[in-house]
Amino acid sequence: MADRKYDIAVIPGDGTGPEVVAQALRALDACSKRFGFICETVTYPFGGDHYLKTGETLPDGAIDELRRADAILLGAIGHPDVKPGILEQGILLKLRFALDQYVNLRPVKLYPGVYTPIKDKGPEDIDFVVVRENTEGLYVGAGGFLRKGTPDEVAIQESINTRKGVERCIRFAFEYCRRRNRRKKLTLVGKTNVLTYAFDLWERTFNEVGAEYPDVERDYAHVDAACMWMVKNPEWFDVVVTDNMFGDIITDLGAMVQGGMGIAAGGNINPEGVSMFEPIGGSAPKYTGKNVINPLAAVCAAGMMLDTLGEAEAARAVEEAVQWVTSTKLESLAAGRMGYTTTEVGDLVVGRILGGESG
Ligand code: IPM
Ligand code: MN
Repeated sequence: MADRKYDIAVIPGDGTGPEVVAQALRALDACSKRFGFICETVTYPFGGDHYLKTGETLPDGAIDELRRADAILLGAIGHPDVKPGILEQGILLKLRFALDQYVNLRPVKLYPGVYTPIKDKGPEDIDFVVVRENTEGLYVGAGGFLRKGTPDEVAIQESINTRKGVERCIRFAFEYCRRRNRRKKLTLVGKTNVLTYAFDLWERTFNEVGAEYPDVERDYAHVDAACMWMVKNPEWFDVVVTDNMFGDIITDLGAMVQGGMGIAAGGNINPEGVSMFEPIGGSAPKYTGKNVINPLAAVCAAGMMLDTLGEAEAARAVEEAVQWVTSTKLESLAAGRMGYTTTEVGDLVVGRILGGESG
């Protein structure tokens, strides 16, 4: 059993990040007690405060250390006093790229008892997973200015799509869809009618790789139509695969459909390396230190992390505890309206994982 020891790098980050991460770590600790594995955590200070103090975003030495961890748990990056882009590019995107976390996995699942703004839809209708490409597309920062600051200024920002990058993401999605074993339907979300180079590559790769997965139904939607269907008929989706930018946009829509940022978690996955898990909600500066933010998204991120580490039973226990909390306890998922404090929600989760019905 000695091999069930995991080195977890923790980056609590900014704003409410540390508060939610603290509850996620308590859930992890409860799981390690119940299921008999060991988590050793090392905490890193990176984030807005650290940057303002030291001028440092993420030193290369830290990346080498993080590479040796079994997984990374991230709270939130984003600080009101730091110009937008610096922390995002210097920490979050740098980590995704440097660690080659080429898939951003974002489940969109409505838990029982959670309010969705979509009328007449319930947990049986809203349960799909978005596989977002995470290291290419518009996010690579290819482009530049010409004649900057003049009336003739030109700004170019190019979407980079490589056959290798597209293929590994699509292959991951087919494998994931097969393993998920639900409707076995994989929807490519693109824009083949306008982005005729990038999504031509995506579509050809999708069909070529898809031929190796005859058990998985292939489906296609333009991104604008996909937004419409996600609201109108979310039950049509099982697994969705798409590029970095479209994936960013549709997963915020997905987060709202599943009840809001309080519950939405994601994993930045490198199947051959180290993966990083995060609540996708951001640092929520106005709630910082008030003990009112919902920690369930971070708890769910920890659950995804356990699943990736091979602790499937513990991952299921986390999800069960979260469902129990949403269906029998919380008044709302929104910060300040849960009917419980951040730490009390953590107490409920921990109590449930350990088997006693606390609270
Ligand atoms: C996300 C975020 C990031 C992204 C930002 C903070 C750079 O919106 O994780 O979805 O665009 O990927
Ligand atoms: Mn986003």
